[in-house]
Amino acid sequence: MGFVRNCWYAAAWGSELRGEPFHARIIGEHILLFRGEAGQPIALSDTCPHRFAPLHMGKIVGDTIECPYHGLRFNAEGRCAHNPFDPGKRLGAARVRSYPVVERDRFIWIWMGEPERADESLIPDFPWLNQIDIYTMSGEKIMHQPLNYKLILDNLMDLTHGQFLHPTTLGNESIATGTLRTWQEGNRLYSNRWNPDGAAPTLFVLPAVVQAGDRVDYWNEMRWDAPGAYYLEVGVTLTGRPRAEGGFLGSVHMLTPVDEANSVYRYLLFRTFAPGNDEVTKALEAIAEHAFRKEDEPMIAAVQARMAGRDFWEMQPLILKTDQAGILVRRTLDRLRAEEA
Ligand code: FES
Ligand SMILES: [Fe+2]
Repeated sequence: MGFVRNCWYAAAWGSELRGEPFHARIIGEHILLFRGEAGQPIALSDTCPHRFAPLHMGKIVGDTIECPYHGLRFNAEGRCAHNPFDPGKRLGAARVRSYPVVERDRFIWIWMGEPERADESLIPDFPWLNQIDIYTMSGEKIMHQPLNYKLILDNLMDLTHGQFLHPTTLGNESIATGTLRTWQEGNRLYSNRWNPDGAAPTLFVLPAVVQAGDRVDYWNEMRWDAPGAYYLEVGVTLTGRPRAEGGFLGSVHMLTPVDEANSVYRYLLFRTFAPGNDEVTKALEAIAEHAFRKEDEPMIAAVQARMAGRDFWEMQPLILKTDQAGILVRRTLDRLRAEEA
């Protein structure tokens, strides 16, 4: 229970911040995001210190936000920059909290902990998102889900559920076989599955990366950074051939906890095959949307309801060999949280 504070959370896609104030709820806190005059992202507490009006209902004036209730204006540092009733007087006490914020790799990253500890080099890198000349990209997707983010991570870190939960879409029996290698570097976790010389997964037969009946080497490789930054690459090549001769589907999955029971899930798919083919892009988007919304979400919601607010460890979950990555994620989050306590 509880959240790690001293880490970077993805607050939004950069594209979500247009000319209007943007409201986000992250680890239970109401945040206002907006762009200043030079396009730079600004993040403030969304609650006006005067009579607690939601600032995102106000308007952007230059590099400040004007409160919709009595018109106090706050700048990027959260200081009162303008008091319409006493323009000459500085209101030192009128401050809102300001959060370190950085735009990188299409995301707006926010530091929810102690500002002096905000280190930009700790932002996990997602270089693929900028490589539009190499990959064909799907759209930037957003799902608001009534799910605890750790339960979503349990789901993402162990893809063996695909065979049962996604039998017609992402499922493939060979996911449960092959060799799995999981390791940790600092707080970053990798978990790679390698399935040599098996049947071709449907996902790659439809866009003709390989043909039905081909024997293929199949890889599933994931990377996780605390608290909710996840990268997955799933690819095939003909048995024994270099990976570059086959193709892969990459995906970025970014989980932002709203509170203990809700999350925002942003994702994007990209690929090496069928370049520029909009039909393939739409088909892949439809498969992902169906799998995440109609298959994963109801199952995770049912799990969350059954857990009924009880602690994961106190329920003494049975732990299988395939749970190693998911367990390491939970242990890492627990440790980071304990270090802050
Ligand atoms: S509530 Fe914001 S200025 Fe009064
Ligand atoms: Fe799933």
